[in-house]
Amino acid sequence: MTGAGGGSGSVAIALLSKLGYRVVASTGRAEETAYLRDLGAVEVIDRRTLSEPGAPTGNERWAGAIDSVGSHTLANVLAQTRYRGAVAAFGLAQGMDLPGSVLPFILRNVTLAGIDSVNAPQDVRLAAWSRLATDLDLGKLARATQVVGLADVPGLAEPVLRGQVRGRTVMDVSA
Ligand SMILES: NC(=O)c1ccc[n+]([C@@H]2O[C@H](COP(=O)([O-])OP(=O)(O)OC[C@H]3O[C@@H](n4cnc5c(N)ncnc54)[C@H](OP(=O)(O)O)[C@@H]3O)[C@@H](O)[C@H]2O)c1
Repeated sequence: MTGAGGGSGSVAIALLSKLGYRVVASTGRAEETAYLRDLGAVEVIDRRTLSEPGAPTGNERWAGAIDSVGSHTLANVLAQTRYRGAVAAFGLAQGMDLPGSVLPFILRNVTLAGIDSVNAPQDVRLAAWSRLATDLDLGKLARATQVVGLADVPGLAEPVLRGQVRGRTVMDVSA
């Protein structure tokens, strides 16, 4: 999971670990290692190992991956995904470019799946929400969530943009 310390990354780690996967979390925040392990990551790696330009293919490290970062990170993840593995891409925290090659697709049969939640059809949403009801540990969700009031939002903007806010931030509009 790339962008592991973010809101989506935190939820994905909790889900994948509950489903029995051995989750590796890529983060720029080593200080959040205990948090990521609590969510279910068995290994935490420095995101700089994925964020620089890399080779078209590399050692096969990942059975599958979920990427919230894009750019060189996604290209490197694809290059390191094992034969017939799959990568789901839904974010662009590093950038919207994809500076890689077709080799992972044509030599290793890797699948790149695009994820869009905004226009997801209702039946897909219902299926996803049903899976969240059964597959998401609510204790972990609570530990990955901070609730703020409207008045807190201006003060949170800078830390969010600097990548200093971990997990999800839920705005309680009545607070
Ligand atoms: N496709 C969709 O439907 C959909 C839905 C929701 C969100 N998104 C997108 O998915 C991404 C993640 O959303 P989110 O809500 O989880 O955001 P978030 O809470 O801000 O998390 C993003 C994480 O990405 C990492 N990151 C930030 N800047 C980076 C950089 N320059 N290079 C590498 N990693 C960086 C950080 O994790 P670490 O500190 O752990 O490194 C950060 O916590 C965003 O780009 C968002 O726009 C897409």
